[in-house]
Formats: sequence, C-alpha cells, structure tokens
Amino acid sequence: MPTTSVADRSCQVDALREREFPYLDASAHAYLDYTGAALAPLSLIRGSAARLASGVYGNPHTASPASLASTRLVEEAREAVLAFCGASPEGPEAYTVVFTPNATAAVRLVAEAYPFGPRTPLVFLGDDHNSVLGMRRYARRAGAPVRVVPLGPGFRTESAAVTACLEAGGRGLFAFPAQSNATGVRHPLEWVGEARRRGWRVLLDAAAYLPSGPLDLTAVPADFVALSWYKISGFPAGVGCLVARRDALAGLRRPWFAGGTVLASSSHTDWHLPAPAPEGFEDGTLPFLALPDVTAAVAWHRAIGYDAVHHHVTRLTARLLAGLTALRHPGGEPAVRVLGPLSTEDRGPTVAFNLLRPDGSPVDERVLQLAAAEARISLRTGCFCNPGVAEEANGMTPEVVREALVRGDPADVDAYLHRLTVQAQGAVRASMGVATDARDVERLVEVCGDVVARGAWEGAFGPRAGC
Ligand SMILES: Cc1ncc(COP(=O)(O)O)c(C=O)c1O
Repeated sequence: MPTTSVADRSCQVDALREREFPYLDASAHAYLDYTGAALAPLSLIRGSAARLASGVYGNPHTASPASLASTRLVEEAREAVLAFCGASPEGPEAYTVVFTPNATAAVRLVAEAYPFGPRTPLVFLGDDHNSVLGMRRYARRAGAPVRVVPLGPGFRTESAAVTACLEAGGRGLFAFPAQSNATGVRHPLEWVGEARRRGWRVLLDAAAYLPSGPLDLTAVPADFVALSWYKISGFPAGVGCLVARRDALAGLRRPWFAGGTVLASSSHTDWHLPAPAPEGFEDGTLPFLALPDVTAAVAWHRAIGYDAVHHHVTRLTARLLAGLTALRHPGGEPAVRVLGPLSTEDRGPTVAFNLLRPDGSPVDERVLQLAAAEARISLRTGCFCNPGVAEEANGMTPEVVREALVRGDPADVDAYLHRLTVQAQGAVRASMGVATDARDVERLVEVCGDVVARGAWEGAFGPRAGC
C-alpha cells in the first residue's frame, strides 16, 4: 500500500471496508466484537483457497515432495511470525515460534512446564484473562506462592504495585496482558525489562493487544508471548503461537510427550528423547494447510501498517467514548458508566460500559444485548473472561466473593451473582478494528440512546452462560 502520511493511510483503512469486508454492508451488520475475533478479509480467504487448489500438501516432516512442500510453508510461517514480532531467530536473544491452536494453549504450554515451586512464584494482574488465571492451578500444585497485583484507580494497574509483588520473595514467572481484553487499558511494556532485570521470567499475553498494537521483542524481550491469529487478522482461525526465547524454553519441562514432540521413544521401557524446540512443544500434526495463511496475514497487516490501524481505531474509540458519555437522562443524570479510561491515552479500541438508570444503578447488560441484536449489531456482554475487572467494577472484595461461594451452589452462575448482591452483574463491550467505521459506532450510540429514552430496563432473559 503506497504511503504518504498516517492520515492518508488511515483513509486507506476506511477503504478496506468495501474491498475486504463487503459482507458487512451486504448484511447490514455493525460488527463491534473485534476483541472477540477480528473479521476475515476477502483477500486472505481467496488467497488461501487459491493456494490449496494449486499445490499438493502432505503431512510435514518426511522426505516426500508433498511433505516437503508443507514443511517449507510451515517454516516460512515461523519466519513470518518472528519478523512480525521483531524477534531474531539467532544469537543470544534468539526466539522461536511454537504453533498452538490458540493463545490459551500457548499459555498452558508454559503453565504446565514451568518449574514452579516454593521459591519460584507466579505473579499475575487483577486484569488478567481466565486463560492466564488458570496457571495458578499448576503453580499451587507445585507449592508456589501466587500473588495477584490489584487493579488501581481507573482500572489501571500501578507500576509500584507490580514491583511490590515482584519483590515480595522468590523469582518466578510474571504473567500480564499487554492490553486488557475488558477495559482496553494498555499496560506498560517496560514492565517486561524491569521484571527480567529482577530475575523474573515474563509471559506477555498479547492476544488482545496485537490486533492494534505493535510488538518489538528486541525492545521488549518477553520470555514468552501468547497470541491467536483469528484475533489479529480474522483468518486463519484455529492457529495461535507461543513466541518464546530459546533460553526460556530450555528451562521448561514438559509433563508428557506425544507424536511430533519426540525424536525417539520406547514402548517397552520408560524412555523417550524429546525433540528440540519448537517441535518438542508441538503436539501432534500442525494445521499445515492453515499455516501459510499466517504468512499471508502477516504480509496483509504489514501492508496496512500499525500506525494507520492505530490512527483509524483511535478516532473511532474517541467517537464512541464521546457518544456514550454524552448520553443523559431527561433530568441530566449520566446514562452510561464506562469501565476504563475515558481518554484514548494508553488504551486500545475496546470499550466496556454499563447503561445506568436515572438513580445511577446499572441496567442488566442483556437489555442492551437484545436491543443491539435487533439493530444487527454484534457486541459482547458478560464479564469477558476477566473476573478481576468485574470484581473491581462492583467493589467485590475477596471476602465478599468467598462468602457468596460458600452460601449456595457455585455451579449456578445466576444464583451466585445474586448472592453477591451486586447491581451490575455484567457489562457491555464494544471493540473495533480495521473493518469498523463511524456508522457502526453511531448505530450503537443510537441504540443506547433509544434504550435510555424508552426507560426499558427489564427483559425476559435465560440463565447466564457464565464468564
Ligand atoms: C487477553 C486475552 N488473553 C487470552 C485470550 C484467549 O484467547 P483464545 O481464546 O484465542 O485462546 C483472550 C481471548 O479473548 C484474550 O483477550
């Protein structure tokens, strides 16, 4: 894509809507769930089909022509991912790419193989996704201390609170999201270098960040980075990566082996020889037909440029924040509470909010979910797999949560939320990406204004699916 200025390139992002995502307007759809998944561009879908239709690709890693063709494409994809993350495959700072089904599987690879113990704790943020919180099960099983850095004012996390947790004893694994999947807050990437200088390994969950934020692992030398491709480019789905420093991978001990992860093993004796990284971490056969789509996705992203994407989504985020915060009840009371920053500073294009009644109490998020669906708007409601933000939004202390858990059946999510006696049991999340345009944002603000004007706070809802 030829470039002049960021603003010009941002206009070219606007033009992508018609060229790459015509199915949106063809179905009168406003898609505002980019943090759930990006949308697939037509050129990537067509490129993939053309590739599959013109070659013979077999299971990689043998010497047949069909196998060699796949092996070559798999290795090209690894190189493309490394370049995408600004990582070198060689030297003392060498990285490699382990292909996984998604970001969650990448996190789990680290969780199950990291040498947790009484002197090697796990530290994570109150803003982490469930896929990171689950690591604590492995840490606890190994007798490792688990520390949670609390959320600070405005749903941000203070650097001093991170330092306090890292300095509270032992040296272990620090896991944090580059961007909150709930509030859009971007956490300081400088924490990576600071934690590593203190002797910690760092797992950066970049799943929500990478769709609109660039990563340069030369400057931000995270030990492990987890990501999902469907979030970055909408296509391919079912491919994630653990991008890892080779020296950090060497410190992991896998709890099992499988086809593809061993050089040799014995059936009758308890012996196996693990394959070196990255293959030693890739269980079973890779999605070899989809990996060339990753190479194409990297090229697609590079052609647009992160600065243009950032400019585009920041404009839309500002517009959404302004539209939502301007909504008032007839008596002048605010009709929206945004969970997270009200400015576009250090945040991504993800906005979580609750509609408010005139008395300031939050409206059940499913009211807006229904109204949005009627207007053909796709967004997300609930707690977005980020229970820390939901707890913070409702002032739920650990004591309140524990009490609610023991007073009834914790398997009944609705009853559990009821016992918590919080008013906002969930929130609404709108998130934007390259295919979003101002009309989508306006449509959502209009629907919110409509619900507020009608004062229609009630609805008949089924049980919650959980968060
Ligand atoms: C910050 C963050 N981490 C992890 C995940 C898990 O990603 P996946 O479901 O692709 O494994 C998500 C998905 O929404 C996310 O936003």
